Amino acid sequence: MPLVPPYIQNLANYVPGKPIAEVQREFGLSHVDKLASNENSLGPSPKAIKAMTETLSGLHRYPDVSGYELRTKLANRFNIKMKNVILGAGSEGIMSTIIRTFLLQDDELISAENSFIGFRVLANASGRKIHWVPMKKHRYDLEKIAQKINKFTKIIYIANPDNPMGTYITRGEFDQFYSRVPKRVLIILDEAYFEFAHYIDDYPNSMNYRYDNVITLRTFSKAYGLAGLRIGYGFAHDALISNLMKVKEPFEPSLIALTAGVAAMDDTEFLEKTIAMNQTGYAFLENELQSLGVEIISSAANFITTVWNSGKRATEITQSLLRKGIIVRSLTAFGWPEYIRVSIGTEKENRRFIDALRTLL
Ligand SMILES: Cc1ncc(COP(=O)(O)O)c(C=O)c1O
Repeated sequence: MPLVPPYIQNLANYVPGKPIAEVQREFGLSHVDKLASNENSLGPSPKAIKAMTETLSGLHRYPDVSGYELRTKLANRFNIKMKNVILGAGSEGIMSTIIRTFLLQDDELISAENSFIGFRVLANASGRKIHWVPMKKHRYDLEKIAQKINKFTKIIYIANPDNPMGTYITRGEFDQFYSRVPKRVLIILDEAYFEFAHYIDDYPNSMNYRYDNVITLRTFSKAYGLAGLRIGYGFAHDALISNLMKVKEPFEPSLIALTAGVAAMDDTEFLEKTIAMNQTGYAFLENELQSLGVEIISSAANFITTVWNSGKRATEITQSLLRKGIIVRSLTAFGWPEYIRVSIGTEKENRRFIDALRTLL
């Protein structure tokens, strides 16, 4: 089709975790657990639900283009200024805006191979040259990424913690890496799982050092349970934010998403419950998986990635779990065919997953 540029024609479709309704239909199941997309099994923040419900009658109005209330609240919470905050339709919405804002024709990007698919999709759709650097022991290889920097490099993307491996870059590693990155290169630090990771001693909470060429991305999708709503935020130098604000879709995020974000930020009880569920669930799954002899990768996020001895075996396990009504994520689409990622769910979900796996093994 001559209308479509070759780099778009060559893109593969994004393959998400299977939806619950589809699995119910396909296997005639009345109950299905979805542990495939690192969502929050507790549901959305109750305060956000209440606020959204109260907003419904105002949906004939466009949202506030400046996102004043939520940006101010985020700025106050993180001790920065509103002009350093951007909002988007999920952190992916902001990634998309970043790619549209900063890239000149010959600019190049660098990231890790087989890391977060969302960024891969957006980067590939830009038609720019991208250096995908293989991971080392399931972690970002910052040394190799630094070596790839050339005069065309404009953006380096790092998910910290990474999805799908759950590994993280330490403060020392980031500091050393940062000293090798020219100031004309923008570093995207994607901290989608920040709320689960920031308890770790050497996790580099990027709010503790604000550099002019670093943009931090975070989201309400995970810890606040609002993945379906599409609301995320970013922090950066005001010169970056003001230009991103010119390029982003003016009415992104939606009115209802803005309202939910403000309310969710006050839902400390829900956030604490989520973190506690994740910590207990992690300990349970780690213990049970190890006692089943399943190799796992230590994770700083709300999921655990398991390692199988072949892609065939991982596919069999994923499919057999599916037939039992448990959706986990085969990592074939990420480029890790021998791996299966399981999101940490409620106590019941985790238990059903382990019971099903035990039967299969
Ligand atoms: C590393 C990473 N970044 C971003 C996202 C997407 O976040 P959002 O829903 O805010 O677009 C995900 C979701 O899985 C993720 O794993």
